[in-house]
Amino acid sequence: MKIIGIESSCDETAAAVVEDGRKVLSNVIATSLEEHKLYGGVVPEIASRRHAECISSVVKAALDRAECNIEDIDAIAVTYAPGLIGSLLVGVNFAKGLSLSAGKPLVPVHHLRGHVASNYLSSGTEPPFLCLVVSGGHSHIVAVKSYTDFEVIGRTRDDAAGEALDKAGRTMKLEYPGGVSIDRISPQGDDSAFEFPHPKLSTSVYDYSFSGLKTKVINYVHNAEQKGESVNVPDLAASFQKAVVDCLLSNLELAAEDFGYDKIVIAGGVSANSRLRAEAEKMCKSHGWSLTIPELKYCGDNAAMIASQGYYEYKNGTVADESLNAYATMPIDDIKF
Ligand code: KG4
Ligand code: ZN
Repeated sequence: MKIIGIESSCDETAAAVVEDGRKVLSNVIATSLEEHKLYGGVVPEIASRRHAECISSVVKAALDRAECNIEDIDAIAVTYAPGLIGSLLVGVNFAKGLSLSAGKPLVPVHHLRGHVASNYLSSGTEPPFLCLVVSGGHSHIVAVKSYTDFEVIGRTRDDAAGEALDKAGRTMKLEYPGGVSIDRISPQGDDSAFEFPHPKLSTSVYDYSFSGLKTKVINYVHNAEQKGESVNVPDLAASFQKAVVDCLLSNLELAAEDFGYDKIVIAGGVSANSRLRAEAEKMCKSHGWSLTIPELKYCGDNAAMIASQGYYEYKNGTVADESLNAYATMPIDDIKF
C-alpha cells in the first residue's frame, strides 16, 4: 500500500511517498528556516506564506521521485495537529483538495505520532516500547502500546527540551535554532564548568521542567555582562546541554524501570542531539535494553514519518471527511478530528 504524506506544521513543507509504512520511495522537504534565522525564531506568517507558495511543487516532486502518479496512491496522510495553525491549514487544505479530486481517502496524522513513526523508517522496531519524544514544542515520555495506542507517562510542565535549548542558544547569541548550535559548539567546551540544578517535580517523578535551567543560563550571562566579563560560551553550552540530557534520560530510565520496558525509542528534532544519542546508548547498554533512534535525516520534521504513521492509522480505520480541520494543540494519547 502506497501512502503520500504531507507535513506543514512548522517551517518545513514536506511530502513523501512510503510503501507499507516502512519503505521510503521519496522524501521531499522545502524549508523556510533561513528566513526565520533573521528573527531568531519561526515567524508564523512567513512560514504559512512559504507553505502556500511551495506545497504544490513539493507534492508533485514527491510523486515524481517515487515514480508514481496520484492514481497509484492508496491514501493521503496529512499532519493536522499540533503545530502553528496557519502552517497546518495549508497542508490540511491541500490534502483535502487532493483527496477530493483524486477520490482517495484522507488520513489525519498527529505530528508527534509521526515523529515516533520516524523510527519505523530506519529500523524494524515494532511496538510496544517506551518512547522519549523531544521536539521544539514537546517533551514527553510515552508508552507506545501499539501503533495507534499511546499513553503519556511524563511531560514537561513548562518549556520543551528543544524550546529550552533554542532560548538558551539565543541568550548565548548563537545562531537559531539554538539546539543545533549548542550541539555543534559543545565539544569545544567543558561540561562541568557551570552548575545546573536537577529539577524534581512534586506533580510526577516522570515530569520535566526546563524553565529553571533556562533561567540559570540567562543569569550566568547577565551576571557576566554586569561585571563587564565575557562568558565562556562553549563551556556554558556544554554544561547546559549536559544538564538537559541528564534530565531527559534520568526520568526515562526511571519510567522504563517502573513500567518494565526493555525497548527504548527516541524521537523528535532533539533526537538528533549527539550527546543525547551517545548517553542514551550508554544507559540502554548498561541495562541490556534495546535502543532505537531515527537516522539523522528523519529526526527533524519530514513527511515520510507522516506517511508511515498514516499507514498504521489507516489500517486502524482512521479516515477523515472533507470537514477535517487543523488544531494547534492535541494530546498524543487522545486524538480527535
Ligand atoms: O521536531 P522538530 O524538528 O520540530 C518540532 O516539531 O518542534 O524539533 C525542532 C527542535 C528545535 O528546538 C531544535 O533546536 C531541536 O529540535 N534540534 C536539536 C538538534 N537538532 C534539532 N536540539 C539539539 N541538538 C540537535 N542536534
Ligand atoms: Zn516536529
